[in-house]
Amino acid sequence: KHKIILDCDPGHDDAIAILLAAHHPAIELLAITTVAGNQSVTKTTSNALKVCSLAGIRGVPIAMGMDRPLLRPARYAADIHGESGLDGPHIPAPTLEPVAQHGVDLIIELLLNSAGDITLVPTGPLTNIATAIRREPQILPKIKAISLMGGAIGLGNTTPSAEFNIWADPEAAAIVFGCGRPITMVPLEVTHQALATKEVLHRLREARRTVATFAADLLVFFAETYHKVFGFVDPPVHDPCAVAALIEPEIIQARMMHVAVETTGEWTVGRTVCDVYGKLGNESQVRVGYGLNVPRFWDMLIETLLTYD
Ligand code: BDR
Ligand code: CA
Repeated sequence: KHKIILDCDPGHDDAIAILLAAHHPAIELLAITTVAGNQSVTKTTSNALKVCSLAGIRGVPIAMGMDRPLLRPARYAADIHGESGLDGPHIPAPTLEPVAQHGVDLIIELLLNSAGDITLVPTGPLTNIATAIRREPQILPKIKAISLMGGAIGLGNTTPSAEFNIWADPEAAAIVFGCGRPITMVPLEVTHQALATKEVLHRLREARRTVATFAADLLVFFAETYHKVFGFVDPPVHDPCAVAALIEPEIIQARMMHVAVETTGEWTVGRTVCDVYGKLGNESQVRVGYGLNVPRFWDMLIETLLTYD
């Protein structure tokens, strides 16, 4: 089993990443930490609690993390995820509560007490992970690997150059990409293949189960905003791809390359500069995804969602 900490900003696709991570037999979900990103950290924390309450996910500590990027003001993605960060279906008030510990402290504690067997799975801005690394560098050798959703080899989705999670906190991303631990980056090139088609929604609904139906309802709202903002017919379900890439590394096609994060460009802040051809001669420190086994991804995700009531 892969022991993981899911560091997220739910967020429609983060919510689905939570559901995948909490019930997939190959994953042991040690904790969920939240960060400001799609919405304020108060809202993303409340959303994580709501999703886990609704799905009956118990015994996984949920800890609120950083409320803003390291250096920049917080900028949310209400155009995609709505004012709550998880607009769309009515979701009952959570029955769960967050733990009192700060998310960054929980990440540090779990790593320091581990045998070096924990993988971090960030699906939001990298503020918590970067802060944990700076605050307690002794966690570094304890991080087994990082499987993150973020970045792009080519076009961004928040600016022409940058993907949202990296753009939201580029300095944090620069710290994480330079941390020296094994990183798998699941960029837009991969996640834009994980499209929630009508057929996917049908498969989620036909079993008439609460949680799979809830996931389908979330994806209907997500589809509407993605259509409005990007003109997409079907929305890309980004964040579960980072979980799937850990469960089954062959589910993505990937190769090693050097990745730098742009933090000063006038037009390019937040760009993940992927040295596909090795032009700079720097160490290839990141496994960058570019392809996805789409049928396999949906089978894995849908099968897991159907294990809930
Ligand atoms: C990423 O940005 C967020 O809006 C999504 O949750 C995902 O993590 C995609 O760019
Ligand atoms: Ca996210």
